[in-house]
Amino acid sequence: MNISQPSPVIPPARAVTDVPPVVEEQLGSGEREDLVARIRTLLVERDAVLVAHYYTSADLQRLAEETGGCVSDSLEMARFGHASKARTLVVAGVRFMGETAKILNPEKRVLMPDLHAECSLDLSCAAAEFGQFCDAHPDRVVVVYANTSAAVKARADWMVTSSIAVKVAAHLKDQDKKLIWAPDRYLGDYVQKATGADMLLWQGSCVVHEKFKADGIRELKARYPGAAVLVHPESPASVIELADVVGSTTQLIRAAADLPNTVLIVATDNGIFHKMRAMAPGKTLIEAPSGGRGATCVSCAHCPWMAMNGLRGLRHVLETGENEIHVAESIRTRAVVSINRMLEFAARTGITVAGRSGD
Ligand code: 13P
Ligand code: SF4
Repeated sequence: MNISQPSPVIPPARAVTDVPPVVEEQLGSGEREDLVARIRTLLVERDAVLVAHYYTSADLQRLAEETGGCVSDSLEMARFGHASKARTLVVAGVRFMGETAKILNPEKRVLMPDLHAECSLDLSCAAAEFGQFCDAHPDRVVVVYANTSAAVKARADWMVTSSIAVKVAAHLKDQDKKLIWAPDRYLGDYVQKATGADMLLWQGSCVVHEKFKADGIRELKARYPGAAVLVHPESPASVIELADVVGSTTQLIRAAADLPNTVLIVATDNGIFHKMRAMAPGKTLIEAPSGGRGATCVSCAHCPWMAMNGLRGLRHVLETGENEIHVAESIRTRAVVSINRMLEFAARTGITVAGRSGD
């Protein structure tokens, strides 16, 4: 008798419908200078450091670097906070970054300029539904992307960032493990193709990266035949196929500096150009098309939640202590296990989270 295997249960990701418009902070004349001066003073008075993501405004990135904070990708932000002696970390980014900082640094106060700064990947993956998905597949190792809530990380065996996802999946495949992957279906698809691992994919997506258009990139390549294409792996497969380099924000910035090409087509949030210009001076950086013909994006090439971070909000939280991140200890103690598993793997295999080996 031919007994067929039951099909795996893959629930649809929670639809993320209420994406806010991108609203950049507008500052009046003299206001920027006043805010920067006040924030500098408050950072010292409050024993605080500013830890910012590459997608936040140039004002915030500059201020973070000038005041002894850091600008980096999500994991390095948390690692920097851990190493810092400051008692307060102000995380300019999105909520999961603040939560990761808190999970790794429970003794520190973690503040964010705007607690409404979410992430469509995180929002697509509610902990209760994700738990049911995992329960339906008890034979699988649960691997989640950093862009998830603390509660989802608490349900996972491993947390990974985009820079190390392929290496972790390959390591698990070598041990004949089958995986659950959440929440980004495009990154999951990329990892699956790169490793051949057996992966069930949660069907979430990033509202910024899923809108990059392969046709538009092909047209740009025809116009600039010597250009290299740099792509963040949250982008669709049709875009990743055109890439010369696929990587995390840190890896793309490094590639921009290292590649011999003088023209670079970049498929990721355009906030990255601030640092990329500094690291690759003299090169022509072109935003990969996401708007234009057939565009449906509300947030073409810029994350609406990252844009919620501004100088006014930063001054406000430093003055008031509002917008503190809290993670219940029962969740934190489980979430930290999945994060530390990745950090230990990276240390053991000589890979930094930024993806370099041997440095
Ligand atoms: P990185 O960790 O590569 O900086 O990416 C975070 C992110 O949210 C990308 O959209
Ligand atoms: Fe999330 Fe996409 Fe914004 Fe990154 S760019 S924080 S993945 S919504």
